[in-house]
Amino acid sequence: MSDGRRTRTQVCIIGSGPAGLLLGQLLHRAGVDAVILERRSKQYVLGRIRAGVLERTTVDLLERAGCAGRAHSEGLIHAGVNLAFDGSLHRLDLAAGSGGKTVLVYGQTEVTRDLMAAREAEGLITHYAAEDVEPQDFDGARPFVTFTEGGVRRRIDCDVIAGCDGYHGVSRASVPPDAIRTFQRDYPFGWMGLLADAPPVEEELIYAAHAHGFALCSMRSPTRSRYYVQCPVEDRVEDWPDDRFWDELRRRLPEDVARRVETAPSIEKSIAPLRSFVAEPLRFGRLFLCGDAAHIVPPTGAKGLNLAASDVHYLVEALSGFFLEGDAEALDRYSTRALARVWKAERFSWWFTSLMHRFPEDGAFDRRIRRAELDYLVGSEAAAAAFSENYVGLPF
Ligand code: APR
Ligand code: PHB
Repeated sequence: MSDGRRTRTQVCIIGSGPAGLLLGQLLHRAGVDAVILERRSKQYVLGRIRAGVLERTTVDLLERAGCAGRAHSEGLIHAGVNLAFDGSLHRLDLAAGSGGKTVLVYGQTEVTRDLMAAREAEGLITHYAAEDVEPQDFDGARPFVTFTEGGVRRRIDCDVIAGCDGYHGVSRASVPPDAIRTFQRDYPFGWMGLLADAPPVEEELIYAAHAHGFALCSMRSPTRSRYYVQCPVEDRVEDWPDDRFWDELRRRLPEDVARRVETAPSIEKSIAPLRSFVAEPLRFGRLFLCGDAAHIVPPTGAKGLNLAASDVHYLVEALSGFFLEGDAEALDRYSTRALARVWKAERFSWWFTSLMHRFPEDGAFDRRIRRAELDYLVGSEAAAAAFSENYVGLPF
């Protein structure tokens, strides 16, 4: 291969979602070189609408990356969330239950935009529309990644490959099956989401449990709402004209709240399946899995992006130790440290999903137990504190 087709970097990052971009930015700040390969176009990546609740620890990482300016000026600080069930609304005081911590409501799409802008401003390299990306030879000390760009096959030699390419990415798929173990639960329903330029119905989020299924009232700004309703997993967006969505949302909220819902034409609608998934370990020689490539949580509780950020935190520590201090053992610690926090967030997301949704197999007993648990959660300081410390994010 001629020189232009073969280049070198310290860390080759696959995927420019929030995990890959945040990793790239923090490595750059630490003085470690990285190149990003992304299968899609920049516009495509920025068109994806995802969750929008940032833990304090995630905001701290954005600050360290020099990318928190807009999150601070445009994000909304929330010190509580509401649970709705049996026709009434109950506020959980997150700050009181977590020693004063809050969350920041700021869309993942905006986080991605801010990270991309910072990367471009620093002149760091991202190859968009990179086809047939293949991580290679990561069981040895000289891994490389090949990909096709503009019809030309290229090669990047590196010391480490960071697989930040999401659940359907090539990194996890490249690991020999006998070297990896996966744990999975698929839920028998999805979330139908709608984005609209209408003021949010409440200042803080509402998580609603109802006989017809779960509903969530969230937001992106004081004038833009994000709503979800639980739906059958086989439903398609075409099954959900706006009117049907608004009717179903209102039905699942307490009456006085439902009356206040302001509607507007949808700007975006999408259906997401709900899944819990963890791969172990997160390290295979010189290949490291990070973010959705390694684990998926159901969106109840908004842990997906925050978990990706916490993996990045541990991976930056490991890679800084390796590249800056020559500490090869730092690489060994990544998987165990990241997974310990991953499993706790998996537990919380699974628990909150199980509590709030209607399952096809539910009987009268399950419904009573769930109502008792909701009553307990809003009636016990200890239960509310346990909820709050998980919702605002466990410490690293
Ligand atoms: N080659 C290159 N890039 C790829 C490949 C591939 N074979 N496969 C996937 N990608 C890219 C995707 O196009 C995407 O831009 O990797 C990126 C992965 O980004 P995300 O899916 O956003 O995953 P992650 O960065 O780990 O962020 C986790 O995003 O998916 C949400 O709910 C999730 O909030 C969580 C967060
Ligand atoms: C969102 O705003 O999209 C959102 C908020 C909270 C969740 C999930 C999604 O738990």
